[in-house]
Amino acid sequence: MAKLQIRKVGDEVLRKTCRPVEEITPRIHTLLDDMIETMRAANGVGLAAPQVGVLRRIAVVETEPGEVFELINPKIIATAGEEEGAEGCLSVPGRYGLVKRPLHVTVRAMNRAGEEYEITVHDFQARAFCHEIDHLDGHLYIDKVTRMLDDEEIG
Ligand code: CO
Repeated sequence: MAKLQIRKVGDEVLRKTCRPVEEITPRIHTLLDDMIETMRAANGVGLAAPQVGVLRRIAVVETEPGEVFELINPKIIATAGEEEGAEGCLSVPGRYGLVKRPLHVTVRAMNRAGEEYEITVHDFQARAFCHEIDHLDGHLYIDKVTRMLDDEEIG
């Protein structure tokens, strides 16, 4: 496994639309492994492929330590509710802002075995899924932030 370089805001690659994964190859497995290692090393709860310079529809989420979701070609198929909450991004280091997101999100995606699955997630996990899936279309949370938090509020 290898730790990858995380692209920062201003890098054009973060603004591109990612292409779907057509075939799950050993290279995709390596990418997923490297993304998980990179996310953990940066103390992140999620990471999307464009953040490591790969324009493919792949993201990983780990809001609960040890519970990793691998999202390949993820699609949000249902949402419910709304909540404003604090959000950050490994591509926007040291900053946090308030963003409105759905409280409940149902996502259809593929796992590394190529099996399609559906999952409904809630609260902070729903926020993380939405944030990472946004990355696949070149959207950053700072585009939809209600208000950036200042240092005192972050603590
Ligand atoms: Co992010």
